[in-house]
Amino acid sequence: MDQAVAAAVPVAAADRTPSPATAAAGQSPALPPPDAAGSTVLSGPVRLSTVPFGPAPPAAPEDARTQLTELEAFARQVAGCTRCRLHEGRTQVVFGVGDPHADLMFIGEAPGFHEDKQGYPFVGQAGKLLDKLLAGIGLERSQVYIANVIKCRPPGNRDPVPDEKEACEPYLFRQVELIRPKVIATLGNHATKQLSGKETGITRVHGQEQQIHVGSFDVLLYPLYHPAAALYTPAMLTVLEQDFARLPELLGRPVAAAEPAAPQLAAAVAAEPAVQLGLF
Ligand code: URA
Repeated sequence: MDQAVAAAVPVAAADRTPSPATAAAGQSPALPPPDAAGSTVLSGPVRLSTVPFGPAPPAAPEDARTQLTELEAFARQVAGCTRCRLHEGRTQVVFGVGDPHADLMFIGEAPGFHEDKQGYPFVGQAGKLLDKLLAGIGLERSQVYIANVIKCRPPGNRDPVPDEKEACEPYLFRQVELIRPKVIATLGNHATKQLSGKETGITRVHGQEQQIHVGSFDVLLYPLYHPAAALYTPAMLTVLEQDFARLPELLGRPVAAAEPAAPQLAAAVAAEPAVQLGLF
């Protein structure tokens, strides 16, 4: 998706420091070793919507072919994951879906009941709202990439716990490095905190872009309210729609190197109101 260059990049910076379990500073996050199940054993279908069926498409540039192959191979590796307890109750790993070369990547929290059954992220009511918001800025699901912090459904759709997020983090970061989006829109608290590496909740940072590092890769982070939260809170939906409307402008910005943290974001790392739990 080619976007017109619309503005300079006065962005706040926040380096995403990988957790000690995943990477040394400045390095790509360390990938987990192949699981006991082996990288070729799949626990469920690996569905990348962009994996072509039927006759071979016209030859793509070398780097594009390599990227698709790597993402697909990576999805197959992740499909056999047994790194945390969530593999015991899942139907399948929900890796992600969309354009593997997308400029815009959305990251939600975790698969729910329907996502677990179907193998795709955001297929329930929250996903319908996401589709509607995308249509509002002239985009379709197939033009973006959608993934979650956690690739397996937590029982009863409970919030993911820290060791589950830590176990899945290398997968998410590698996914980002392979897709190389211009903008990552995090949906809700879990994704925003995971990508920013800060405890500042979504109520404070929604709509405020910041430059981050994901492994060796610089990308603009744009936190948004989670659509599931907005479904039940009209005021939140209005804010989400307003924040969403800025996405085309952000996508049009030239890609910039990371800058030092901006004061307002540093100052925002403070006590969170009680509503800052879960999706809010
Ligand atoms: N569906 C997902 O895939 N992720 C969420 O965070 C919510 C619903």
